[in-house]
Amino acid sequence: MLTLHDRRILLCVSGSIAAYKAAELASHLAQAGAVIDVVMTESASRFVSALTFSSLTGRSAYQDMFDPPSDCPELHVELGRQAEVVVIAPATATTIARLAHGMADDLASLAALASQSPLVVAPAMDNLMWKSPATQANIAVLSGQGATIVGPCKGRLASGHIGLGRLADTEAILGAIGSALGRHGDLEGRKLVVSAGGTKEPIDPVRYVGNYSSGKMGHALAEAARDRGAEVVLITASSLGEPYGVRTVRVVRAEEMRRAIVGECQGADAILMAAAVADYRPASEAQEKMKRAQEERLILELERTPDVLEEVGRVGNLIKVGFAAESHDLLANAQEKMRIKRLDLLAANDVTEKGAGFGSDTNRILLLDSGGGQEELPMLSKYDAAQRILDRVVNLLRK
Ligand code: PMT
Repeated sequence: MLTLHDRRILLCVSGSIAAYKAAELASHLAQAGAVIDVVMTESASRFVSALTFSSLTGRSAYQDMFDPPSDCPELHVELGRQAEVVVIAPATATTIARLAHGMADDLASLAALASQSPLVVAPAMDNLMWKSPATQANIAVLSGQGATIVGPCKGRLASGHIGLGRLADTEAILGAIGSALGRHGDLEGRKLVVSAGGTKEPIDPVRYVGNYSSGKMGHALAEAARDRGAEVVLITASSLGEPYGVRTVRVVRAEEMRRAIVGECQGADAILMAAAVADYRPASEAQEKMKRAQEERLILELERTPDVLEEVGRVGNLIKVGFAAESHDLLANAQEKMRIKRLDLLAANDVTEKGAGFGSDTNRILLLDSGGGQEELPMLSKYDAAQRILDRVVNLLRK
C-alpha cells in the first residue's frame, strides 16, 4: 500500500490467543514498507515471542518498561511521539480498560498515552467479556476520544462458543490504519462515488449475461480514496468483501447500478466508473428455467442498457472518470470513448495483456484527459494505479 510506505506505526500486542494474528498484521505492514515498532504486554509474550515480531519487522520488539535500550532512556515517550498511528491488536479487555482510564502501568499503555496520533483498537476476547457493561463503557470512552474501533467479529471463539469477540480480519485492520493515517488527506471533505465489478443480467433463474470483472480495480479505488480522507460510496456488483470504512452498496444488474449511482451522485464531487456495466441485457427474463430444446440454435434477444456515465453527466460540477476495457486499438478506442462520454479523465486498459485488466492484482493504465493529454502508467498494483488516478482527480477538484 502506497500510504503505508515509510509511515511510522506503533503496534501494541496484548495477551490473547489472537496475538499470533498480530504477526500476520506486522508482516503485511512490513511488506507495505511501514516502519513498525512493536510493544508486547507481558501476557502477550506468553502467546508469541518478541523474536517473531523482530524477525518480521527487522526492528526490536519491546516488552519491559524498566529495561529500555541504553540509547533511549525515555523509550515510552519516544515510541508514542514518533508513531503516526498507534494500533492495539489484539486489544484485550484489560488493555482497553487501561487505555480508557489512562492507566499507564506497562510499556504498551505508557506509549499509547504518550502519543497524540490516531489510535486504532482491534478488540479480541470472549463474547461475554466483550458484552460486559464495563468493556462497553470503556469502548465508548475510547470512541468518544476519537479512537477507531475495528471489530470484533462474530465467529468461533477460543472458549468454543460462537459469538462476537474474534479479532477483525487483517484486511480490516489494515483498512482502519490506512484511513486513520489519511483522515486529513487531500480528499478530506470530498464525496467520491466508485463503481466496481461486472453486472449480471438474468436470462432465467439460473443463467445470466455477464463479464469477467472481479471488482478488484473498483475496490482498490475505493480504498485508495478512503486513505486520502474522502467519504466513499462503493456501488459494487462484485462478491469481494466490503472495504473497511467505505459505505458499500451491493447491486447485481446494470439497472440497479444505474439507480444507485444516480442517487449517490447528487452532492458528490466525483464518480469513478471502474465497473464493467453490461451494454446489453436480455430483452425479457424467463420466470422458469429454460429447458434444453431439440433446436440446435437458440437466439437470445438483447436490448441496450442505459449509459450510466452519460446520465450522471447531467449532474453539475461532477468530475467524471471513466474506464475503457479494450482488446485492440487501445488509444483510438479510448479517445473515441472520451469524446462520446464527455469525460474529464479516462483510464484505458488492454484486457488482453497479462497482468492487466480483469481479475489480476495489477493493471497497466493509459490515462487520457479532456485537454488531450496522455500518460502511460507502468504496470502497478491496482491500489497504486488507483492512487495515480486519484492524483489527477485531486488536481481536477482544485481547479
Ligand atoms: O474488476 P477487475 O477484475 O479488477 O477489472 C478491472 C476492469 C478491467 C473491469 C476495469 O479496469 C475497467 O476497464 N472497467 C471498465 C469496463 C467497461 O465496461 O469498459 P467499457 O469500455 O465497456 O465502458 C466504458 C465506460 O462506460 C466504463 O467506465 C463503464 O463503467 C461505463 N459504462 C458502460 C456501460 C454502461 N451502460 N454505462 C456506463 O457508464
